[in-house]
Amino acid sequence: MIPLRLSEIADITGGVPHGDAGTVVGGPVVIDSRAAGPGALFAALKGERSDGHAFAPAAFAAGAAAVLAQRPVDGPCVVVDDVQEALGRLARGVLERLPDVTVIAVTGSAGKTSTKDLIAQAVSRAGPTVWPPGSFNNEIGLPLTVLRADTGTRHLVLEMGARGVGHIAYLTRIARPGVGVVLNVGTAHVGEFGSREVIAQAKGEMVEAVPAGGTAVLNADDPLVAAMASRTPGEVVTFGRSPGATVRAEDEALDDQGRARFTLVTPEGSAPVSLRLYGAHAVPNALAAAAAARAAGLAPAAVAAALSDAAPASRWRMEVTERDDGVTVVNDAYNANPDSTRAAIDVLAHMARGRRAFAVLGEMAELGASSVAEHAKIGQHVARSGITGLVVVGANAAAMAEGAGQVASWTGECVQVDDVGAAVTALRERLEPRDVVLVKGSRVAGLERVAEAILDGRTGGPAGGAGGGAGGGAGGGGDGPSAAGDAEAAR
Ligand SMILES: Nc1ncnc2c1ncn2[C@@H]1O[C@H](COP(=O)(O)OP(=O)(O)O)[C@@H](O)[C@H]1O
Ligand SMILES: [Mg+2]
Repeated sequence: MIPLRLSEIADITGGVPHGDAGTVVGGPVVIDSRAAGPGALFAALKGERSDGHAFAPAAFAAGAAAVLAQRPVDGPCVVVDDVQEALGRLARGVLERLPDVTVIAVTGSAGKTSTKDLIAQAVSRAGPTVWPPGSFNNEIGLPLTVLRADTGTRHLVLEMGARGVGHIAYLTRIARPGVGVVLNVGTAHVGEFGSREVIAQAKGEMVEAVPAGGTAVLNADDPLVAAMASRTPGEVVTFGRSPGATVRAEDEALDDQGRARFTLVTPEGSAPVSLRLYGAHAVPNALAAAAAARAAGLAPAAVAAALSDAAPASRWRMEVTERDDGVTVVNDAYNANPDSTRAAIDVLAHMARGRRAFAVLGEMAELGASSVAEHAKIGQHVARSGITGLVVVGANAAAMAEGAGQVASWTGECVQVDDVGAAVTALRERLEPRDVVLVKGSRVAGLERVAEAILDGRTGGPAGGAGGGAGGGAGGGGDGPSAAGDAEAAR
């Protein structure tokens, strides 16, 4: 964080300083006392299981300069009504002191993290860039990311997640996007929101926050997203496969591995792109990233080069690892909804031409009343794609097996198992050298453990190295369920 005195932190957060008000906080802002270092500000959040206040002594012992707390602790602190809201206010106050930072924010139902990583890898070529590892898209992770910016930072790339109307608006009040990207409105969380129209209402809060002079980046191929053009005071730039899109792809093709090549077409010129990411669904993400990077001032050739160099930076999203015996494991187990599951099955079918293909699929959570029908449709899609074997994991995914069974022409095998361990056993019994395996399910299913077991304990890792990368990303790529992690984690 930029150096701030305790008194300034109190002013910004509306809190009361205790102890030496001249204490300078110059280190990172952390919510885990184990991550505290010299000069840190430890935010004592109250979680479901533990109360951060109990860890204040540990934070001080690790070098923390002060604590943001709801009651006085033994050491310099600022006492506020609500630590989480104070974190947001502090982040907003710090951004106000950094006028040279351009905030580029991404939302949508699927692809936020992947697109955020692409944007960050592109704009970091044009100047120092801060972006989070993994998702960090909620009311804790987002301010923590903002607070990593300093006077050298030029771009701040943020992911914004929502579990309801008003959530994105809250996040944009902390960090107002100069460039706001909406990727798509899908069916993720439709059970919670009620309908896709309500999801569109919530995701569109992003572009309502883009000011005049800023840029709203909208998906021309998604009618609910394209319609958000009327909700923004900013300039509208569209991306997609539609001929009318401002930034679009032409001559799109997939290589044998399922990686896309296309010509990036922009008003300033065209340039060839060969993605290192897997699946045709990486193309709209790349186009969105190109439109965002363009809005941040990058030329088409630089954007195309950055997209072509970009390695998967966050774990368990189309992470492709090959075993010594030629078995290819596609670990897409971070989360799942019908759109992303269909996209992943398509990649599996494409990669498997001439090889045997297995899909290990767990439940797609939070689909509400449409859950059984959506699971059945995925089962049908697997069967129609000619997959060799479908392993359905868990009772909540059972309708997939029924759906697959309805496709009379399918000659493949369907196995239903109760849990991860049984899935691994079923797979081990069937796998032969050179087979391709896709593993996918909602976060609650935890199917990355299947991928890891099949890789014989090797944890794989994104090709090209983990983490946020050079130039200011936090590194580590951690994206497990944590307080700071993912507003949308259950699905
Ligand atoms: N544009 C897209 N359309 C459909 N599925 C996508 C898209 N982009 C990514 N996915 C898939 O969605 C899942 C989550 O990707 P991620 O980038 O983590 O999205 P989010 O941050 O929105 O949850 C992965 O399985 C990924 O392969
Ligand atoms: Mg995410």
